[in-house]
Amino acid sequence: MDKRIVVTRTVPESALEVLRQVGDVHVCPQDRPLTAPELREAVRGAHAIVAMLHDRIDADLVAAAGPQLQVVANVAVGYDNIDVPAVTGRGVIVANTPGVLVDATADLAIGLLLMVTRRLGEGERLLRARQPWTFHLGFMVGTGLQGKTLGIVGLGDIGQAVARRARAFGMSVAYTGRRRAAAEVEAELDARFLPQDELLRTADVVSLHCPLTEQTRHLIDEAALAAMKPTAFLINTSRGPVVDERALAKALQEGQIGGAALDVFEREPEVEPALLDLDNVVVVPHLGSATTETRTAMAELAARNVAAVLTGAEPPTQVRP
Ligand code: GLV
Ligand code: GLV
Repeated sequence: MDKRIVVTRTVPESALEVLRQVGDVHVCPQDRPLTAPELREAVRGAHAIVAMLHDRIDADLVAAAGPQLQVVANVAVGYDNIDVPAVTGRGVIVANTPGVLVDATADLAIGLLLMVTRRLGEGERLLRARQPWTFHLGFMVGTGLQGKTLGIVGLGDIGQAVARRARAFGMSVAYTGRRRAAAEVEAELDARFLPQDELLRTADVVSLHCPLTEQTRHLIDEAALAAMKPTAFLINTSRGPVVDERALAKALQEGQIGGAALDVFEREPEVEPALLDLDNVVVVPHLGSATTETRTAMAELAARNVAAVLTGAEPPTQVRP
């Protein structure tokens, strides 16, 4: 009997082709995030699940799938939606999609950085509102980047790619994280390791590139925001809950920091309403990896992870607990 592969939400055809060679592929027809009961129903009898970052995969879901389940392949680098110890503890392999989305996400972080420091969203809103304007020296002036310090939280692959781009803009790079980067990485990026509190106090821009874990949930809270310079900008392309969104809205309202640019939100797809009323906030809907090339590569990598496990081979990008 063919192995059952459940894809929770539609993926590019090239990935489906890879999957069809190793099993019977079922793509959930809803084309929206499934509710928990819908997800439990959909995965029943699955040997493999191709999951999206909004699908909660835990012990209950593995039990609902059944004992034949072999692999959960997340189409995302972040896997905070998966209870990895619970899933792997039941003998199920977990895989994610690192590497293929590094450049796209770093590009987006720099796009947000430019948008918020140069007030591009604000300028666009002005024109779209058909408001009158004329050029003058004080009109909609922003903040230059040259000579400023970018503070990176989490100097992994994406953090490093952002650092490299920021260096091309003439910024200097500091970083913090669980551990020091390799000496060659520090040397290449001329990146200074700082304790988190010092990084927050000294950076002109703080950009978040850590995974969401119990340690990083609300890493940027009221105290962290209070430590930042009143002119500093916060960029978040990691996961929404790394930032306490209500505390951020309050800090922005009170002028504690200069602005924020967010690709991810604490309660996606909701956005804290207070943020939407602030001109110095840029918001985009979780677009970090959203290029045709990258999304295709992510789906194909997830499919290759499934194909490897179902044929008894080593998956290319397994998550180990
Ligand atoms: C997207 O947010 C990802 O984790 O790949
Ligand atoms: C998190 O802070 C990391 O080091 O990636």
